Parts: sequence; C-alpha cells; structure tokens
Amino acid sequence: EKGGYPHFMLKEINEQPAAITATVSPRVENGLPDLRIPELSDEVLRGIGTIHLVACGTAMHAGMVGKAAIEALARVPAEVDIASEFRYRNPILRPNDLVIIISQSGETSDTLAALKLAKSRGVPVLAIVNVVGSSIARAADHVLYTYAGPEIAVASTKAYTVQMCVLYLFAFRLALARGEQTEAEIRRLTAELLRASEVIKPRLADCEQIKYLASRFVNTQSCFFIGRGFDYSLSLEGSLKLKEISYVHSDAYAAGELKHGTISLITEGVPVIALATQKQVYEKTISNAKETKSRGAKVLLFTTKDAVVPEGVADYVVRLDDYDDLLMPLQLIVPLQLFAYYMAVLRGCDVDKPRNLAKSVTVE
Ligand code: F6R
Repeated sequence: EKGGYPHFMLKEINEQPAAITATVSPRVENGLPDLRIPELSDEVLRGIGTIHLVACGTAMHAGMVGKAAIEALARVPAEVDIASEFRYRNPILRPNDLVIIISQSGETSDTLAALKLAKSRGVPVLAIVNVVGSSIARAADHVLYTYAGPEIAVASTKAYTVQMCVLYLFAFRLALARGEQTEAEIRRLTAELLRASEVIKPRLADCEQIKYLASRFVNTQSCFFIGRGFDYSLSLEGSLKLKEISYVHSDAYAAGELKHGTISLITEGVPVIALATQKQVYEKTISNAKETKSRGAKVLLFTTKDAVVPEGVADYVVRLDDYDDLLMPLQLIVPLQLFAYYMAVLRGCDVDKPRNLAKSVTVE
C-alpha cells in the first residue's frame, strides 16, 4: 500500500507532480484559468471587497501564500486567519467580502466553525478541500476541490502543494477579471503553473543530497528558519514540518525580525535554515544570513541556480532551478519536506504517526 516507499510521507511527497497536474489541468481552458464555478463569475469577482483566508496549521500556511499572490496580482486586500482565532474574535465581515476556507480533511472543527460563522453573517464561503463530501465541502457555498488523493501521513505534504495551486489559479482568475493583469501575463503565469509538476521532479530526485544535509544537522536541539515574503511563509511551513515529525524544536522568523530579539539565541553551531529565492529581497536575506553566520550559526541556504552567494554566508547551499518568483513556493517546499522527513527518519521517529497528533482534528 506504500507503493514501495518506506513511509506514506515519502510516497505522498513523491506524488506531488501527479497531484499538481490533477488539480491544475482541469481548470485551464485555452490557456487561461477557469474556476468552473458559475456563481463566481468575473462580474462577481469584480465586486469582492476583502478576502479572508481561514484555516489551521499547514492549510493556513498555504493561505499565506494565497494572500500574497492575491494581493500582488489582483490588488484585492486579503487577510489570513487562524480558524481558532477567527471564530472567537468577532471578525469584521462585510456582505461583499469572500471567505476562503482551506482544509485537507474537510473535518477540522475550528475551521468548520469559522465557516459557519461566516455563513451566519451572510458572507459567501468558498472552500478549498481535498476530501469529497466532507463536512466543510457540504457546508460551503462553493467548493474548489484539490485532487491530491488520500493523504495518510499525519504531516500534510501533497495537500499543501495543491492548496497553493488552487489559490494561484484563483488569484490568476481574480486578477484577470479585475483587469489588474493583462491576459498575456495571466496566460504566461498559467503556463508556468502547469509546468510546476515538471519543475519539482528534479527536487524529488535531489533526495540523497537532502538526506546527507539532514545527517549534518541530525543532533541539533533547536533551529531557526528565516526568509522574507514567500520565503517567510515557507519558513513557517518548513519549520512546522520539522518539529512535527522530528521533534526538533524550531522557530521561523521573518528575516528582518531577527535583530528585534531572536538573534540573541544565535550562538556557535546553532542551525539557521535561510530561504532566499525571491529576487526582490535576495540581498536583504543574504545579509541576515551573514549576520547569523558571523555569530557562529551553521547556515543551510536554499536559493536559486544563478544567485551569487558571497563568502561567509552559508555552510551548505541547496540550489533550485529558475522559476517564476511568484510560484517558487511550489518548488521550494519539496526540499523542505524532504529535510524534515530525513531528519525524522535519522532520529528514529515514527514519521507517519508523530506522537500526540491525529490526522484530522475534529475536537477543539
Ligand atoms: C501539519 C498538518 C496540520 C493540518 C491542520 C489542518 O502537517 O497536517 O497542521 O494542516 O490540522 O488540517 P485540515 O487541512 O485537514 O483542516
């Protein structure tokens, strides 16, 4: 049932190219994104005020990537909320807002409660769900299914990737409907998104390199992930994956926040995983990585193929292939998942069933 893989998690990481194709290709028509939800016509999309993306855990991290894509492309204000916070804080919701609920299982109790709150306020709810016919899918006004197939490992991998894909498609359509991007630009981005399944294959093939790197960090007590923009969202997800399954304490910081407190924790040998895939802030993140290195940190840098990495910044460098900065999260997540996976394996952890966790959190 694990298809020759030692764990479901590794199988599911490797299923990501197929999951991406299954999720994206049915929603592309003549090279342009088509949500195939008649009630979310371009006219309706043009009238949206604020978008609220609400979810828990990894699904919430996908929401952060969605927010950034929506705001960058469609210039519609978007907020990300943790479902358990949203539901108890009397959120400001207006009739022309849209709530996007994101859930792999479709059964997470806080997420379902957030959905019901939005509906009780008369705000339309679009759900991005992996499990057909789940409670969230049934309660939402509109559903965009992700087609990851069943996810068995407790740590979410392929579901996260396709949640991001659906959010990109949504952002593309929204930007097109609102005239914020040219049709040519949306065509180009859609073609790039369709290519994601190919882009990540070499990252899956890099698994031996990532396993080696994990072996260099295996005895660590605590580590830090840093990044800016999309790389910050990915820091949060890479860090969550690592602590969840390998039981290594880890924190994720927006790279520019380090010097506002956390840098006091950087001493000789402390691992810092620096993500620097975004051209616009590349120099800034590199200088933050250098600040940690000069205080003794052991720096593992993830960056792009041709990025110039100055001396004294990193102990190890992992290179990604060229890809649109906006879609880079789809490529970057793979080595981060593999890093967490091999750390857990090398530390002898129960990878698919980490302690104290359940696949679907149906209690508060
Ligand atoms: C982490 C993980 C959790 C889930 C969260 C939401 O690897 O799997 O953080 O993402 O419990 O679950 P769903 O998406 O089923 O609502």
